Amino acid sequence: MAKRTPIDPGSGQQVLELTLGPLAECWGRENGHLSIDGQPLSARVPQTPAYLYSRRCLDAAAAALRTALPESIGIHYAIKANPFPPLVRHMAGLVDGFDCASLAEMQLAGEVANAEHNISIAGPAKSRAEHRHAIEHGITINAESVGELERIMIESRAMSRRARVALRVNPPFALKGSGMHMGGGARPFGIDSEAIPALLEQRETLAEGGIDLVGLHLFAGSQSLDAEAIAGTLDAWIELLREWQTTTGYTPDELIIGPGLGVAYHPGDRPLDFDVLAPAFTRLGKALATLGDGGDTTIDTRLELGRFLVAGAGVYLTRVIDRKVSRGTTYLVCDGGMHHHLALSGNLGAVLRRNWPLIAIDRLDDEAIETVDLAGPLCTPLDVLGKNQSLPPLSPGDWVGVLQSGAYGASASPGGFLSRDAANEFLV
Ligand SMILES: Cc1ncc(COP(=O)(O)O)c(C=O)c1O
Repeated sequence: MAKRTPIDPGSGQQVLELTLGPLAECWGRENGHLSIDGQPLSARVPQTPAYLYSRRCLDAAAAALRTALPESIGIHYAIKANPFPPLVRHMAGLVDGFDCASLAEMQLAGEVANAEHNISIAGPAKSRAEHRHAIEHGITINAESVGELERIMIESRAMSRRARVALRVNPPFALKGSGMHMGGGARPFGIDSEAIPALLEQRETLAEGGIDLVGLHLFAGSQSLDAEAIAGTLDAWIELLREWQTTTGYTPDELIIGPGLGVAYHPGDRPLDFDVLAPAFTRLGKALATLGDGGDTTIDTRLELGRFLVAGAGVYLTRVIDRKVSRGTTYLVCDGGMHHHLALSGNLGAVLRRNWPLIAIDRLDDEAIETVDLAGPLCTPLDVLGKNQSLPPLSPGDWVGVLQSGAYGASASPGGFLSRDAANEFLV
């Protein structure tokens, strides 16, 4: 049997620092244990498998972004990244509004939001109930097609209430380096950019139909670790806005921009370079001030994002149930798996499965001297937690933590698969 090379050698401590960069500081590390307020996580969580989210890390991520943004640009939390209600409630104290993707998310946002927060909903097949809820509560509807504009007008007329609407733009470019392209080419999301000027020309007709066109929703992709590419995309949006201002005279009152900030999930990934992003955000703020007539008209601008704000604050915790060797490969079979954490198995938006930052949370200082495969409890070969992964030697009962698990985890996984228990979630 050929000897396998470790993909991600190093202690848990090193994996933590490489993965989270400066945000690693918000996790406590006492006597080799990953900890919160001096207590090991394995003592804070009553049972595995479980997601644990740290308030301190949520605060740190939001603060890191705020520091890089000019004051004129706000932050919207995209609830889809993690809709765990206590976490969303905590986010309300850190952000200026919420992006929703369903009726339930709008209801949750309505429960936690204060009077200053803005709420919006995006998504390509919104239901009548979603349109009606948004219209009733003054939630901005990011319209994804001309057909949707017509459906909004019907509801607005039926309810005798005006609708707040932003046109979601499908740009002529995609965000380079992003794990998920959501712009450029043909997409079910947004209105093709070449069709936008004609709609902007019809704003009076839209207004007569009950639509208050409040602005534009700009989203080109998600999960990019390429700060230069993100900066380039922000510049490209500004170019489009300038062009439309020249050709149609339209200046948006409100702009929601999805920057697609990524997080380091895999060996070799490096956290985003804020030395490149901060000046790009400053440039964006200045360009928008000029576009808005140098201060006479301010464009209320919000960045809309999820994973960057919450991924690093979450650890998925699982326990080794069995250790076995099959034809030369050592397996750690764990109680957690793809029914809670689909992305870990490579089945959520990845072309090829890559390893995640898995650490032995009670052995942070121990060198990763063993190369093992980690499997979950499901009867399918898809249930992979790690392959060829480097860890200190672990036995049944030992805990493994998957870093960067605060986004698109429990709610983005097939929780009903094999009728197993739902993931426990804790915010501490
Ligand atoms: C419209 C919209 N806004 C925001 C997001 C959040 O993206 P991320 O969590 O990568 O910041 C997404 C993700 O797909 C999205 O589709």
